[in-house]
Amino acid sequence: MSDNLHQLRCFGCGVRIRGDEAGSIFRCKDCGDLFEVEYPGWDLAGAGKGLPNTDRPNAGALKWLWRERRASGELLDRSGVWRFREMLPILNSFGNAVTLQEGNTPLYHLRRAAKALGVDQIYAKHQGMNPTGSFKDTGMTSALSVAKERGYEWVACASTGNTSAAMAAYAARAGLRSLVLIPQGKIAWGKLAQSMDYGAVTCQLQTDFDGCVKVLSTIVQEAPIYLLNSVNPYRLEGQKTPALEIAEYFDWSVPEHILVPGGNLANSAALGKGLREMKALGLISRLPKITVIQAEGANPLVRSFLKDDGQTIEPVTANTRATAIRIGNPASWRKAARIIHETGGWCLDVSEAEIAIAKAELGREGIGSEPASAVTLAGLKKLVADGRVAPSDTVVLLLTGHTLKDSDYTIDFHRGTLLEADEAAPWLPELAALRRNAVEVEATPQAVLTALKEIQSRWV
Ligand code: F0G
Repeated sequence: MSDNLHQLRCFGCGVRIRGDEAGSIFRCKDCGDLFEVEYPGWDLAGAGKGLPNTDRPNAGALKWLWRERRASGELLDRSGVWRFREMLPILNSFGNAVTLQEGNTPLYHLRRAAKALGVDQIYAKHQGMNPTGSFKDTGMTSALSVAKERGYEWVACASTGNTSAAMAAYAARAGLRSLVLIPQGKIAWGKLAQSMDYGAVTCQLQTDFDGCVKVLSTIVQEAPIYLLNSVNPYRLEGQKTPALEIAEYFDWSVPEHILVPGGNLANSAALGKGLREMKALGLISRLPKITVIQAEGANPLVRSFLKDDGQTIEPVTANTRATAIRIGNPASWRKAARIIHETGGWCLDVSEAEIAIAKAELGREGIGSEPASAVTLAGLKKLVADGRVAPSDTVVLLLTGHTLKDSDYTIDFHRGTLLEADEAAPWLPELAALRRNAVEVEATPQAVLTALKEIQSRWV
């Protein structure tokens, strides 16, 4: 019996096709929009209307099964994505799944942030604690497994660095070859190192991420290479599972708010899809507000919401030091806009200084992250300040990448060389309190103790 229960539905015109009928760029032949995976047997349209449907998974049984699997030693059960495999029946056989035991990431209570903002229940869901150090692993295990099952030898992606690191690792695991297109000089070294380490063919192009996407779209139409950017709808199936982990953590009552960084805008869409499906299946009873946070210099969705409430988008030339989200023409913007509308969330942007400060504050809690992740804390401060998050609300920040991905950024911050004078000017006391630059000291105990005294005397 096949484990495969899915079909694809065009997000724009609603046309439905078989999974293997999508073209190489995963765009609808009729209207050009993206596809979404759907599971006809679940009959989500009838959900909640008292219609009998014996194919729909039983919520109580699933909760029990997923909890049991946490104690299992089976490879698939050890994965925080495939542990929930009833929610992503996209393979002919789950035995074809390529896994590095991704998911099952920690949810940390942010005590210092909670105290500073007057909101007790602030948590960080740290997707940077995945095998290659970013949330991309959860989507890569699902989509690359599809590539393998369908017999592809080559996979490819354009990337700001994390997708490529994840793809290269999972391809290596599966014995597939991988091609990475990255913007020259605009990704963090840690990420570039990873794709080399995992044996990808890595091409640095003299363009930005959006330019890399364009080049790759043509390549995959001319060569039998499977595209693993997030236009590939199978990526989102894996990327929705952190939403299940969050709901499970809170014993299936969801937080009021989930804040997600926005780049190509697939992650917010994926988490929203997971939540929507959980609600339709009766696993949860309401949806949290999903809010997307972008960097000021890469904020096409924020502009779109300001202009016409997320109905149309105009690409921007993106520029931010949070290189992971340096994206001006996001592919999944419609999906992200829908989930913001459906849940009553918002879309806002934060400055370079606000990102740097938030990242350092997270670091002070013992929670390292890459700058793109820290936009969530910076955004939360704004939501609290204008009363959109109440003191009694529970908030989950999605941290998407590990701090070691981009240590140059962190070192520059602490050395005081990250921000220009005009960016730093409004934040001088905050910056001074957070910086911990390394000092060069003579190799004697006395010299270290003197340095310690001197440094402590500057602390307030
Ligand atoms: N945070 C990190 C650390 C990322 O790497 C990305 C995207 C995002 C947030 C934004 O997620 O695109 O789903 O809105 N990185 C991609 C890459 C584009 O190529 O690694 P999104």
